[in-house]
Amino acid sequence: MKYIYLYITLLFFTFQKYLITHAREPLAEFWDIEDDEILSFLETEKYLSLVDRTLKSLLDDISFGETFVDLKNNKINVHTVNESRIPDIISQPELRNYSNSINFIPANKSSDNLKFSFNEIIRIANKTKSSGLSGIVIIIHPLLNEVTVNLPIGNINITETIQDFINAIMIYDPKIIHPIDSSASNTKRGIGERGIFTKVSSGDKIYFDNNATCSAGFWAKRKNKQFLVSAGHCIGNFNDTTSKPKVFYHGLNDKPLLVGKVVYSIWSAPYDFSLIDIKRMDIRLKPSKNMRNRFYTSPELIIEKNGIPQSSHITHLCKSGSRTYITCGNIISFNGSFISEQGDLYTGIIISSTEAAPGDSGSPSFSYLNLRSVTLNGIISWTRNSNIENRFTATMPLQLIFNKAGITL
Ligand SMILES: *[C@@H]1O[C@H](CO)[C@@H](O)[C@H](O)[C@H]1NC(C)=O
Ligand SMILES: *[C@@H]1O[C@H](CO)[C@@H](O)[C@H](O)[C@H]1NC(C)=O
Ligand SMILES: *[C@@H]1O[C@H](CO)[C@@H](O)[C@H](O)[C@H]1NC(C)=O
Ligand SMILES: *[C@@H]1O[C@H](CO)[C@@H](O)[C@H](O)[C@H]1NC(C)=O
Ligand SMILES: *[C@@H]1O[C@H](CO)[C@@H](O)[C@H](O)[C@H]1NC(C)=O
Ligand SMILES: *[C@@H]1O[C@H](CO)[C@@H](O)[C@H](O)[C@H]1NC(C)=O
Ligand SMILES: *[C@@H]1O[C@H](CO)[C@@H](O)[C@H](O)[C@H]1NC(C)=O
Ligand SMILES: *[C@@H]1O[C@H](CO)[C@@H](O)[C@H](O)[C@H]1NC(C)=O
Repeated sequence: MKYIYLYITLLFFTFQKYLITHAREPLAEFWDIEDDEILSFLETEKYLSLVDRTLKSLLDDISFGETFVDLKNNKINVHTVNESRIPDIISQPELRNYSNSINFIPANKSSDNLKFSFNEIIRIANKTKSSGLSGIVIIIHPLLNEVTVNLPIGNINITETIQDFINAIMIYDPKIIHPIDSSASNTKRGIGERGIFTKVSSGDKIYFDNNATCSAGFWAKRKNKQFLVSAGHCIGNFNDTTSKPKVFYHGLNDKPLLVGKVVYSIWSAPYDFSLIDIKRMDIRLKPSKNMRNRFYTSPELIIEKNGIPQSSHITHLCKSGSRTYITCGNIISFNGSFISEQGDLYTGIIISSTEAAPGDSGSPSFSYLNLRSVTLNGIISWTRNSNIENRFTATMPLQLIFNKAGITL
């Protein structure tokens, strides 16, 4: 199966010695730059995101389509339908300082057009409600300036359910992407295994008492209560029953230490998160507000409470998980949609090309402010693993969780 919820249902313990190889920072590796270039690239990305925000507030939805960051060329690209609008846009006082950073590219579809098609296709997907559509990812693709309907990977033959769905949506002119090549080209380097700590940080491995293995997401609070947030599918739907599921952390000698009890869990579209009350946390454990990093030079990353989540397409998004550690990719959509194994239609999801694997469920999704501090963007829920072009990883947006659960950082 190439698209999966990211939990492991069997416990197995491996004890590995620290194996530290010289490796680039994950973000440097993703951008294919040197570690010492990261800060200047982050600055550029931040600047371009500002240009993009300013620009988007001036673009109308009929003359323009999607925008995205082109970091290497230091530009914001704007799909442009009506080129005679360009002089008008460029001459706006807000853009005076930024005009060299904007690149208009000819396009056929406006934002209005794309949003209409997307909404109609989502409406039909919702009506179809079938596990026969599992693994389909529907997004407005910022690079292609098209609504892309990404079919499940691997099957040469399209099932009848999928064919019927395609037939029903074709009038909205989506781009159907059918990746046949199923060879997931994920070659992992040898990296430092995580050690045994008594601090429980974002990104650490946690065990639910149904034997699911997930990752600690982030620490949050509601009034004077403290919670650890992870994915909902680790334990399923759950609210207010007497026997609350327990969550453990494996400490020294692999002894299970209680992290807390699940007080609320939701795994029902569009939500996928759980709240673990840590009131009875084992005294040998300490919640660390920081995020696990794998570099000795900076073993932890500080989660900046007031950080602003990413807002531009094709900016970086990383995650720190207990299985594949820190990996980075690009944000492709802030309002994407996918269909789960159960046939549920998830909408309003951040879709990125960040690599993830079983065990990484609940991992914090974050963007770097610098090499020591990060901004939380959400938690990892689902992935469709593949080579990078067809990899879609779903992040539950932080705000969606906050609004539903009434929690804050
Ligand atoms: C393109 O923009 C120009 C300038 O704003 C406008 O006069 C013209 O009607 C637009 N064309 C279309 C097809 O909307
Ligand atoms: C443009 O840059 C100048 C000089 O850095 C600055 O004083 C001005 O406020 C900027 N204008 C805008 C609209 O950002
Ligand atoms: C716009 O549509 C025309 C006609 O279908 C096509 O030839 C052209 O390549 C399209 N342009 C873009 C940028 O997609
Ligand atoms: C799907 O349809 C149901 C029932 O009509 C509706 O309540 C729900 O909001 C729809 N979901 C989406 C994502 O459009
Ligand atoms: C695809 O369908 C054809 C004709 O129905 C069949 O011969 C072939 O074995 C199928 N291939 C796969 C991979 O299922
Ligand atoms: C969890 O694993 C243990 C040991 O393998 C087993 O005894 C137990 O029944 C499992 N629990 C569930 C809920 O699967
Ligand atoms: C959980 O259930 C209680 C009532 O039993 C309800 O008040 C609360 O809103 C529910 N929590 C959520 C997040 O739905
Ligand atoms: C996000 O997508 C939903 C359909 O899934 C649509 O109703 C909504 O308007 C979109 N939001 C934005 C901001 O485009």
